Amino acid sequence: MTLRSDSQEATDVSDRARDLKRSTIRVLFDAADKNPDAIRLEVGEPSFTTPAHIIEAAADAAASGFTRYGPNGGLTSLRELLVEKIRSVNGFTPSIEQVVVTPGAMNGLYSIYAALLNPGDEVLLPTPGFPNMDETVRLLGGKPVFYGLDKSDDYLPDPEEIASLVSPRTKVLFLNTPSNPTGTVIPPDRIEAILSVTAAQGVWVISDEVYDQLILDDDLPYLSPGSVDESLPVISVYSFSKVYSMTGWRVGYLVAPPPLADILRKLQEPQVSCTSTISQKAAEAALTGPREPIEAMRSAYVANRDFAWTRLTDLGLSGYRTQGTFYMLIEVSESGLAPIEFSLRLLEEHSVAVAPGEVFGPAGKTVVRISLANDKEKIGHGIEAIAKFISELN
Ligand SMILES: Cc1ncc(COP(=O)(O)O)c(C=O)c1O
Repeated sequence: MTLRSDSQEATDVSDRARDLKRSTIRVLFDAADKNPDAIRLEVGEPSFTTPAHIIEAAADAAASGFTRYGPNGGLTSLRELLVEKIRSVNGFTPSIEQVVVTPGAMNGLYSIYAALLNPGDEVLLPTPGFPNMDETVRLLGGKPVFYGLDKSDDYLPDPEEIASLVSPRTKVLFLNTPSNPTGTVIPPDRIEAILSVTAAQGVWVISDEVYDQLILDDDLPYLSPGSVDESLPVISVYSFSKVYSMTGWRVGYLVAPPPLADILRKLQEPQVSCTSTISQKAAEAALTGPREPIEAMRSAYVANRDFAWTRLTDLGLSGYRTQGTFYMLIEVSESGLAPIEFSLRLLEEHSVAVAPGEVFGPAGKTVVRISLANDKEKIGHGIEAIAKFISELN
């Protein structure tokens, strides 16, 4: 057997693998990893460890034999609990067959695109928006078409713009509420107006609600698109990652109309067989266990958001006051630098890592994203460094 050289491997890989772009955020991660003193505000995951009762439930499950393959679409015991969660949190009641458990929302999204897209089909994606979506769509032969989220309109999707972008090839509209990275929660009337457009045009809606229980303002009305009219072609995607601080456990779930749910279950087999049974038992404990640790994490994000917003406005910076998630967008156009250059130099000169806006698509060219899942002191230091760096550059 001969070992292949790097250059041979480069020519052997598929076009699709070769064309996959490396996320701009990796450039920043790599640079931040080299600086052990850096304050890491670029990360997209909770700072808390998973609550203890969830970890204990996983250990118990492993000890009592939950160490084997499970059903493709998830354990029945978990799916029963999820039906109840969707009823009480998201306002609709799917049948148990409509609920498919996936190894993280990311795998659920991948399977949904794999189930729906033929080569050349178009997917409407928000920008600034969740970065992984356009590469996933491209990987599966689809074509991303961006709709803009404008700060002057609270980063909300505009139904008229969406209608104007629909073409005969449009298959899917991706919606994300609360939104990463903008932190916006889409108000009910917008959701309804958008669903009127997609229903009239026969376009599927993927509703990514992985931050559904991280709404930071109690009085903010929240409408799950899946609850509006259960006959509409809407697929809802949820996760344990963010709400329960369970990013590494890899448990997500989706709700789809029954025939599509069958296909999505089937698609698990050649990809992953099933979601880890130990993680699914942990997820059950997350749903049935005490709410206090979960509420305490949300309260910490609320306090950090309030703190960050006051600091930011006191320092004369402009940003968007997060309504949901644990991110905050900050304008850096006054620096005269593109966000990626701004971020790399901020890291080098002030040891603060932030996510550059380019990561979030074409409309991210004036912003950086910070994470509110960190100590107040570090968040404050990060915001002060951004303000100082902008003034140094002027
Ligand atoms: C909007 C959005 N959707 C999906 C995901 C993926 O979540 P999971 O960890 O469940 O794969 C993320 C993670 O950052 C996200 O921000």
